[in-house]
Amino acid sequence: MDIKQLLSKLTIEEKASLLSGADFWHTKAVERLGIPQMMMSDGPHGLRKQRVDDEEAGVNQSIEAVCFPAACALACSFDRDLLFRLGQALGNECQAENVGVILGPGTNIKRSPLCGRNFEYFSEDPFLASNMAASHIRGVQSKKVGTSLKHFAANNQENRRMSVSAEIDERTLHEIYLSAFEYAVREAKPATIMCSYNRINGEYSSENKYILTDVLRDKWGFEGMVVSDWGAVNDRVKGVAAGLDLEMPSSGGVNDKKIAEAVKNGTLPKADLDKACERVLRTVDNYLKGRDEEAVWDKNADHALAAEIASQCMVLLKNDDRVLPLPRNRKIAFIGKFAKKPRFQGGGSAHINAFRVSDALSSAEKYASVSYAEGYRTDEDIIDAGLINEAVELAKNSDIAVVFAGLTDLFESEGFDRKHMGMPECQNELIRRVAAVQPNTVVVLHNGSPVEMPWIENVKGILEVYLGGQAVGEAVCDVLFGKINPSGKLAETFPVKLSDNPSYLNFPGEGDTVKYSEGIFVGYRYYDKKEMEVLFPFGHGLSYTTFAYSDLKLYAKNITDRDSLTVSVTVKNTGHVAGREVVQLYVRDIESSVIRPVKELKGFEKIELAPGESKVIVFTLDRKAFVFYSDKTHDWFVESGDFEIMIGSSSRDIKLSSVIHVESKDRMPFVCTRNTTLGDVLALPDGEKYVAELISDFAKNLNTESDNNELGESTKLMMEAQLRDNPLRVMVSFSDGHFDQEYIEEICRRINEDMK
Ligand code: BGC
Repeated sequence: MDIKQLLSKLTIEEKASLLSGADFWHTKAVERLGIPQMMMSDGPHGLRKQRVDDEEAGVNQSIEAVCFPAACALACSFDRDLLFRLGQALGNECQAENVGVILGPGTNIKRSPLCGRNFEYFSEDPFLASNMAASHIRGVQSKKVGTSLKHFAANNQENRRMSVSAEIDERTLHEIYLSAFEYAVREAKPATIMCSYNRINGEYSSENKYILTDVLRDKWGFEGMVVSDWGAVNDRVKGVAAGLDLEMPSSGGVNDKKIAEAVKNGTLPKADLDKACERVLRTVDNYLKGRDEEAVWDKNADHALAAEIASQCMVLLKNDDRVLPLPRNRKIAFIGKFAKKPRFQGGGSAHINAFRVSDALSSAEKYASVSYAEGYRTDEDIIDAGLINEAVELAKNSDIAVVFAGLTDLFESEGFDRKHMGMPECQNELIRRVAAVQPNTVVVLHNGSPVEMPWIENVKGILEVYLGGQAVGEAVCDVLFGKINPSGKLAETFPVKLSDNPSYLNFPGEGDTVKYSEGIFVGYRYYDKKEMEVLFPFGHGLSYTTFAYSDLKLYAKNITDRDSLTVSVTVKNTGHVAGREVVQLYVRDIESSVIRPVKELKGFEKIELAPGESKVIVFTLDRKAFVFYSDKTHDWFVESGDFEIMIGSSSRDIKLSSVIHVESKDRMPFVCTRNTTLGDVLALPDGEKYVAELISDFAKNLNTESDNNELGESTKLMMEAQLRDNPLRVMVSFSDGHFDQEYIEEICRRINEDMK
C-alpha cells in the first residue's frame, strides 16, 4: 500500500472510520481504495479465533486450538529461548488462520496475589516481566504477525477495572509499572500496544497523553499502533489527540462521526487524525506484506511443544527426603479431581478451545500403575465426607500419595479479583487428612496465583505447576517420574499470608481510587526490605540435582555509568542427573540518597548441565543495572558509589557477591535557595567553600561543655545535626549580627552560577 498516497485520497470521514473496528475482531476496509480488513484475535498463550460467522458465539467458543501454559507458568521458566519458540508457534498458527495481530502478551505487574488476572501476567518483577514479554513478541513477530503488548498500563486489578484510577507516584510508575513494558517496547518493538481500561492518576489510559505519547512514543520511540482494550474508550476525540489510534471493538460509527466533526470544526487537529490513520494503515500494510498463505498449522506438533514448555516451567517448591521423583515400583495414589481433569488455563478472553487435553492419571500409565480417588468437588467448595474418606483409605493403602489441588475457575478469572489467598477449603481438608495417614504426601498445584498452604509442614513435596496448558498431564508425569528434571523458579513471592503483601492495606482501593501507597516496594522488594519470612521467595525452585557456584569475576573494579561491566561465574552440576539451573544476578546499591530496595534482579541465564559438567556464565551489565527513576530529573539516574553484584539461585539464596564502584556522570539539578540546608550544600562537590565562614562563625558560638560527659556528647550531636539540617537562612539568626539575608542570597547566587 502506498500509505502517503492513500492519506491524500481518503476523505475525513473515511479516515475517521478507519479508527474503529468493523466488528468485534476486524479493522475496517475501504473498498474503493483497496484497503482490506485485518483480523485480530486473543491471545496471549494460544489462538482464540472466534468464528466470524458466529458473532453471538460466547467467549469460550472459538476455533479448536492449542492451549500453551499461561504467563504465570511461562515466566517461571526464566527461559528467553522457550518464550521465543512459543511465540514462533503462535505466529505460525496466526498465519495459518489469517490473523494479523495476536493480542498479548500481558505484562502487567503482579501487585497483589488477589488480582484475578495474575495468571495472564508474568511477574512481580519488571525486569523479568519485560524480558519474558520481549521474547514472546520477538517469536510471534519473527513470523511476520503482530503482537499487542497489554494492558498499558497499571491494570493491576480487576475490581472496577473500567473506572478505577491507579494513583501512583512518578518514580513508582516508571520504576515498576511502566518498566515492565519499557524494555519490551524498546527492544522487541511490538506492532501494537493495547491501552488498559483503568485510569492512571485520574486520566483514562485511552486518553492519557502522558502515557500514550509523552512516555510511549517520545521517550521510548514506539512507532506502532495503539489499540484500545475492548471497550476502553471514554472520550474518543480526546483519545485521538492523546495517541490512541484504533478503537475496538467499534462504536457503531458514533465515535467516527465525532472525530470527523471535531476535525471539521477545528477542535481536533487534522494532523492528529492523519497520524492515527497512518499508524492503522501501516499495521494493516505490514500484515499484508508479511502474509504467508502457505503456512500450515500442525496441531499435534504444537501440542508436543506445549508439553515441552510446560515441563520447563514447573517449580519444585519442596522436596523433603527426596520424595520426588516418584519410584515406579511402589504403590502410588493420585488423589484429587485435577489428576483426571486438570485446571490448565484461566477464564475470560484468554480462554482457548483446546483441541486435546492430557491428564496426569492417564499420562502416568507409561510410568507406573497408579490408583485414583477423586477427593473433592470442583462445582462448589463443600467438604464431601464420602470423597475424602475414600481418598484417605486409598492413601493409607499406598506408599505415596500425590494430591492434585489448586484453584478452580470459581476462585480466579478475568473480570473479578480473588477474595482471599486461600485454596478451596474442601481441598485443604483433603490434603490435611491424606497427609495425616500418609507420610509420603506430595501436592501438585494448579493455580494462577499464590495460595496459602496451611498444610505445608505436613507434606513432603510440593510441585507448583500453575496453569500448564493443554499438555499439562503428560508434562506433570514427566516431571513427577523424573524423566524431566524440574527447573522452574518462582516469578513471584509466595507470602505466608495475604496480609503480609505490601498492597494489602490498599487493595483494591476505595470506590474508584486505588492508592499504590507501597510505592516501589512490590513483591520481594518489600519482603526483603522488611526482612520478612515468606512461604517461598522470588526466584526459588528446587531440582533433582545440585549445583555449585564458584569463581565470581567482575572484569573491572571501577566503571563509569556509560561503561558496561562483564561479570562471570562458574556453575557446576554436582549431582547425578542432568539438570537446568536459572542463575540470577541481583544488584544492591550499597549507599543511596534515595530509598532503594535491598536488591533488584538485573540479569538471569538458564543453563543446562550434565552431571559433573561446569559452565561459565557471562553477564554484561550496563547502566540500567544501577539506575533508579528520579522524579527530579524525570529520567533514569545513576548515583556514584559502590554496588554489590550478587549471584544467587533464588532471591534469598545468594551464593556469591562482589563490589563494583560506579562513577556516574548524571547530575541532579541543584537549585540553592535560602531554605536549602547546610548539609545539602556541603554534599556538593567542594561544597564547603560556599559556607565555610558561616560554619566557623557558628562553631565559635558553640559551647558544648558540660560537667556531665554524656550530656556534653549529646549536645554536640544535636549541634552537628542542627548544623547539617539548618536551612541557610537560619544561620543569620545565630550569627550575632555577622551575616544578613543579603549574604545568604549571595551564597545562593554563587552556587547556582557554579551549578549551571
Ligand atoms: C481484555 C483483553 C482482550 C480483549 C479482547 C478485553 O476484555 O481485557 O485482554 O484482549 O478483551 O478479547
